[in-house]
Amino acid sequence: MCIPGVVPIVLVYGRALLDSSPEGRTAYLEADVRRPADIVTSPVLAETLDLTRPVALSLIAVLHFVPDAADPATIVRQLVDALPAGSYLVTSHGTGDIAPEETQRVVDVYNQRGIPFQTRSRAELEALVPAGMEIVEPGTAVLHRWRPDTDPDEYADADVSAYGLIARKR
Ligand SMILES: C[S@@+](CC[C@H](N)C(=O)[O-])C[C@H]1O[C@@H](n2cnc3c(N)ncnc32)[C@H](O)[C@@H]1O
Repeated sequence: MCIPGVVPIVLVYGRALLDSSPEGRTAYLEADVRRPADIVTSPVLAETLDLTRPVALSLIAVLHFVPDAADPATIVRQLVDALPAGSYLVTSHGTGDIAPEETQRVVDVYNQRGIPFQTRSRAELEALVPAGMEIVEPGTAVLHRWRPDTDPDEYADADVSAYGLIARKR
């Protein structure tokens, strides 16, 4: 996904780097996540994904660009509503829980440049997970502590300052 008209170059690179292959179909849709109906009703979606079988909805580092005024909980619910049972939501999200002052400086930089950016607490992030989904183990964790492959203490939580979670639709 990308903001329409803002970064179409991302789509150009995306198409050049990853296309459909025998392993799976790939498609690109220029859409604003704040308009989920445009995404779930797109013929591109129906032509690409078999929505009779579970799929993964990946909203990695996206939802912190959706302020409360845009009602992110409803956006996520509308996206998840289009998916069959057994599907997963995968998301990561900036947080001010760990280093509030440093994180606020990052928020300010984005906002001063006209880009909406809102960190959320653990509880605020989990509130974006629609009813009918369950967060899988180990729950919401600072990103590098979510089922780490390497020593998580190699990084300070404050330097990461983002949570990740995966939820499964019942
Ligand atoms: C930090 S990048 C993450 C990209 C990708 N998910 C990843 O993990 O590599 C944030 C992405 O969110 C996209 N984005 C921000 N606001 C958006 C919106 N309203 N609708 C769709 N995409 C948006 C940006 O264009 C950018 O591609």
